[in-house]
Amino acid sequence: MSDRLFIFDTTLRDGEQVPGCQLNTVEKIQVAKMLEQLGVDVIEAGFPISSPGDFNSVIEISKAVTWPTICALTRAVEKDIDVAAESLKYAKHKRIHTGIGTSDSHIRYKFNSTRDEIIERAVSAVRYAKKYVEDVEFYAEDAGRTENEYLARVIEAVIKAGATVVNIPDTTGYCLPSEYGDKIKYLVEHVDGIDKAVISTHCHNDLGMATANTLSGVLNGARQVEVTINGIGERAGNTSLEEIAMILKCHKDIGIDTNINTVKIYPASRMVSSLMNMPVQPNKAVVGRNAFAHSSGIHQDGVLKNVQTYEIMNPKDVGLDDNSIVLTARSGRAALKYRLGVLGVKVTSEEAVDKIYQKFLKLADQKKEVNDDDILMLAGADTAEA
Ligand code: KIV
Ligand code: ZN
Repeated sequence: MSDRLFIFDTTLRDGEQVPGCQLNTVEKIQVAKMLEQLGVDVIEAGFPISSPGDFNSVIEISKAVTWPTICALTRAVEKDIDVAAESLKYAKHKRIHTGIGTSDSHIRYKFNSTRDEIIERAVSAVRYAKKYVEDVEFYAEDAGRTENEYLARVIEAVIKAGATVVNIPDTTGYCLPSEYGDKIKYLVEHVDGIDKAVISTHCHNDLGMATANTLSGVLNGARQVEVTINGIGERAGNTSLEEIAMILKCHKDIGIDTNINTVKIYPASRMVSSLMNMPVQPNKAVVGRNAFAHSSGIHQDGVLKNVQTYEIMNPKDVGLDDNSIVLTARSGRAALKYRLGVLGVKVTSEEAVDKIYQKFLKLADQKKEVNDDDILMLAGADTAEA
């Protein structure tokens, strides 16, 4: 099995479905170009049948971006596939992503259909898409809640029909990591012809397990992951691109690589957050404001002695200049002394540091964060007194 993991970014499709996050075509092109610099393999550029705006965005992104494959989403409906194919006409590398719900609740309530009929519709959609493009990805919507034996029948049938990638979405974010991993393993072991297609994960974060489920899928044989910048997406969102990329970078022992240029992670996160008007939670892994901030005295002391005591990633690897030592009432003398040095304040004796530190603690009890101006003021007053 290959040790290369393909990154399929759906920020501009699943991510952009979030209410209030809609982008215009110019903004989508900006994001697509950033994704190209980031090194993603596939950009899901939209759902072209859904609106003329989405159709146009797929056209323009196809013209603007050359290296990644451009993908367009469809239902298992011929008209959708016709429109998607038309929207991809300028793409250098193109993929149609078609599919249908496979869980019993989707079959019964959404389609009022039967398991056998769903397989027929899935196969027809893949065959129809194959008339337009070589690269056809099939999604089994709600695969997370689809019984494994039936899912294997669906996947085997669509691979026979020509699907090059098979997407196993945990659409509702319900699966446990072990359950999702077992599902992928089951497909690897039971689907005839599985080696002809790449298995893809597509995990939602309703119970906060999207990244864990995606990783479990990869460890069990998936070689494409569907992700978004900052983990944005329907409801609680999708798996975060930055989390998967950094897990694989930090855990070289897993032995799987991506093409992600990780130093572009932070700029991409900022761009998506500001264009979509969607703040990143401060404690968000990898890209949150506090992801590399050290505020307690014990941690600050450790980091100042050796950064690896509390940092498993180098902030520079994700495109940040440096970690930050945030001075609060929990900070110790060592952090204050370090900051005084950075600010160019020469304090000649340990007693002088102590004096400033006592004043610093009084001020810190009144403020959430003590900034550089405050420190200069404290140091200046103290120097003047001395
Ligand atoms: O979550 C999901 O099942 C999807 C599919 C359309 C791929 O987004
Ligand atoms: Zn989704």
